[in-house]
Amino acid sequence: MKNFVRKAIKKIEKLDSGQILKVITLLSDENEMLETILDSMDDGVIVTDLDHRINIVNKTAGRLLQLQTGDLHGRIVWAVVKDQETAEFIEKHVRSEGKILDEEFYTEKGAGTAILSLAILPYVKNKKIEGNILILRDVTEKKQREAQFRRAENLASLTTLAAGVAHEIKNPLSSIGIHIQLMSKNLNQTGCIDKESAEEYLEIIEEEIERLNGIVVDFLFAVRPMDTRIKSEDINKLSEDLIDFVKYELEENNIQIEMNLSPAVPKIEIDIKYMKQVLLNIIKNAIAAMPGGGILTISTFRKEDRVHLQIQDNGIGISDENMTKIFEPYFTTKDFGSGLGLTVVFKIIKEHGGEITLNSKEGEGTTFTISLPLPQSERGLLAWEDEK
Ligand SMILES: Nc1ncnc2c1ncn2[C@@H]1O[C@H](COP(=O)(O)OP(=O)(O)OP(=O)(O)O)[C@@H](O)[C@H]1O
Ligand SMILES: [Mg+2]
Repeated sequence: MKNFVRKAIKKIEKLDSGQILKVITLLSDENEMLETILDSMDDGVIVTDLDHRINIVNKTAGRLLQLQTGDLHGRIVWAVVKDQETAEFIEKHVRSEGKILDEEFYTEKGAGTAILSLAILPYVKNKKIEGNILILRDVTEKKQREAQFRRAENLASLTTLAAGVAHEIKNPLSSIGIHIQLMSKNLNQTGCIDKESAEEYLEIIEEEIERLNGIVVDFLFAVRPMDTRIKSEDINKLSEDLIDFVKYELEENNIQIEMNLSPAVPKIEIDIKYMKQVLLNIIKNAIAAMPGGGILTISTFRKEDRVHLQIQDNGIGISDENMTKIFEPYFTTKDFGSGLGLTVVFKIIKEHGGEITLNSKEGEGTTFTISLPLPQSERGLLAWEDEK
C-alpha cells in the first residue's frame, strides 16, 4: 500500500478527484489502523519533534502519565503532565538529550503509587534525528515480585544463618559450663580452690566468652543492612592497591601475580571499603588454596552492560560436593576458619546489585567471577555505540 501511495503522490497532478479521494481514504484507513494498534499496546508511546512538541501519543501513555485530556497534538510534552513532580522528571530527561534506558520513577496511581520506567530513544527519519520517542512502562508488579523474592531469599538465608549460629555457640557454651562445674566441684571438695587452677579455668572461660562475642559480632554483620557509601570508583586501581597490600604475603607463599586489567573498564558505583573486603577475602582463600605456591591472576573486563572482575588461582580446587556449600555461613574446611568469609563476600556483592559465580576443578584451581552493573550513563552510551 505504501508503494501505491508513493507512486500516486508522485503523479498527483495527473490524478482526477476520484483517484485522489481513493488515496486519501487509503491513507486515512492506514492511519486509523496504526492508531488502533498503538492504543492497544501495554506500553505508553509518545513521539515528539525537536521542540519537544507532541506528534503522536497513545492511550496508555495518557493513562500512565495522567496526561490532560483533549487534543494534545503540538503541545509541549511535559506541560500536559498533570502531576508536577512527574512533569519535572519528564522535562529533565527529555531536555538532557542523551539516550535513556529504563529510568524508573514513582507516580501517583489512584490511591497508591505506581513505579514507571521511562526510555527515551531518538526518532530518526531519513538518517536525521527529528525528535524523541518516549516509551513508558508500568513496572510496579514486576518490582513487587522482585521485592517479595528478595524477602523470601533473605528469610531463607537468615534461617541457615541462625542454625549456623546455634551450632557455633554450642561448643563455647558447653566448655564454659564444664569449667564452671570443675571449679564448683573443687570448691565443694576442698572448700577452696588454688590460685593456679582458678586462673587456668578463668582464662579458658574468658577465651570462650571472647569466641561467643566474635560469633555474635559476625552474625550481626551478616544480617544487618549495610550502610554502603556508594561512589564512582576505578576497579582496576582497587585491584592494584589490594595486591600491593598483600604482596609480602604472596611473596612469602611463593605466589606469582598476574594482572590483566582492561583499560576499557569504566568507573563503577561501589563502596570501596566493602569491595576491598570482598577482594581480600577471595585472595586470602586463594592463598590458602596454594600452600606450595602458584599463580594468582586478577582480571577485569567489560562485557555487555556489566563489569567483570575475575580472581583465579591454580590451587587445590573445590570438590563438587563442597561447591554448593562454600557460600553457606560457617562452612569451612580449615582448622581455624570461621566459614564466614564467602558469606560476607556474597552479601556485599548482592548489596551492589552484582552476581558472583565460580568455576573450580579439584587439583587444578578455582576462578571466582564477580559481575557488577555499569552506571546508567555508561549503559546508555553502550547501546548507542552498538547501534552505530
Ligand atoms: N580459592 C579456593 N580454593 C579452594 N577452596 C576454596 C577457595 N575459596 C574458598 N574455598 C573453600 O570454601 C570454604 C569457605 O570459604 P570461606 O572464605 O567462607 O571460609 P574460610 O576461608 O574457611 O574461613 P575464613 O574466611 O573465616 O578464614 C573454605 O574453607 C574452602 O574449603
Ligand atoms: Mg576465607
